[in-house]
Amino acid sequence: MKIAILPGDGIGAEIVAEAVKVLHALDLKFETESALVGGAAFDAHGHPLPDATLQLAKDADAVLFGAVGDWKYDTLDRPLRPEQAILGLRKNLGLFANFRPAICYAQLVDASSLKRELVSGLDILIIRELTGDIYFGQPRGRRVAVDGHFPGSEEAFDTMRYSRPEIERIAHVAFQAARKRHQRVTSVDKANVLETFQLWKDVVSEVGLQYPDVALDHMYVDNAAMQLVKAPKKFDVVVTGNMFGDILSDAAAMLTGSIGMLPSASLNDKNQGLYEPSHGSAPDIAGKGVANPLATILSAAMMLRFSLNQPEAAMRIEKAVDTVLTQGLRTPDIYSDGMTKVGTADMGAAVVKALASQA
Ligand code: IPM
Ligand code: MG
Repeated sequence: MKIAILPGDGIGAEIVAEAVKVLHALDLKFETESALVGGAAFDAHGHPLPDATLQLAKDADAVLFGAVGDWKYDTLDRPLRPEQAILGLRKNLGLFANFRPAICYAQLVDASSLKRELVSGLDILIIRELTGDIYFGQPRGRRVAVDGHFPGSEEAFDTMRYSRPEIERIAHVAFQAARKRHQRVTSVDKANVLETFQLWKDVVSEVGLQYPDVALDHMYVDNAAMQLVKAPKKFDVVVTGNMFGDILSDAAAMLTGSIGMLPSASLNDKNQGLYEPSHGSAPDIAGKGVANPLATILSAAMMLRFSLNQPEAAMRIEKAVDTVLTQGLRTPDIYSDGMTKVGTADMGAAVVKALASQA
């Protein structure tokens, strides 16, 4: 098993380091190799996704990714910005299926900004299409900066598009995931306004006919945003496009208390995957040792389950995370009165210790 480690920018290095420690605490044989990505790669090599980094990711069984981005790169030409690294990895590896589970841990129910009864026991799965939609329409990366400014443009556009096969394959992923859960899929669209999402709705309905055991309903994205904060437990699997999935998954993250708890998996049709926390690079707290490493540690668990065929090891990590939360350990983002405030490295060490004491 070969794992490519791409820490990236901001808090990326700190949180990935803890996840790597946790992986090494398991009795598994695997190789790791690290490379620069994002702003860090731009600084060293002049490009956010150098060929060597892309090749390393392609050759690996799985990629463990931290986060990319920093305001200091905002004035770069778009193709050179850190975010293009993660978009390039998704596109080049064909990682079209993004799983973003939002689970509210019982221990963190009061860390959510929503009332306890709304989120207690919450377990929803957002499946976001990741290689199409307005993210990859025309034009891409046309903007050229001159002295840090973008001269001359009075108008800008991006193109939203989906093809039938792109929608079909993500719909299958959603229905199959629902079969392993509570047999319910909510497809989120904006078919009342956008042609792209009328096609989305039609194709998801067609695919749904092959899954008579799964209940399908359709929801407009604005309503879905409202329902997510009104009655989130009504959802089981939510499937949607790239743009809406980006937005809804951040909203869903907060239901669980903190986006610092949310792992994600991005898979291609060969089950090769990239695993990253759902949060960003948080440059404001980078280097302070206070970032929550649990989303990355839980992403490593997803990696073991989905790409490396080690479901037991995955479960051990998830159990260890549960243990440290029960022990009352909290990074600042999930801290509440009476708990023990810890930093990034202490949290990682506590997970390693919890692993060691598992029967
Ligand atoms: C995410 C992030 C990325 C996205 C950015 C960093 C390009 O917000 O993974 O949700 O928009 O997909
Ligand atoms: Mg996002």
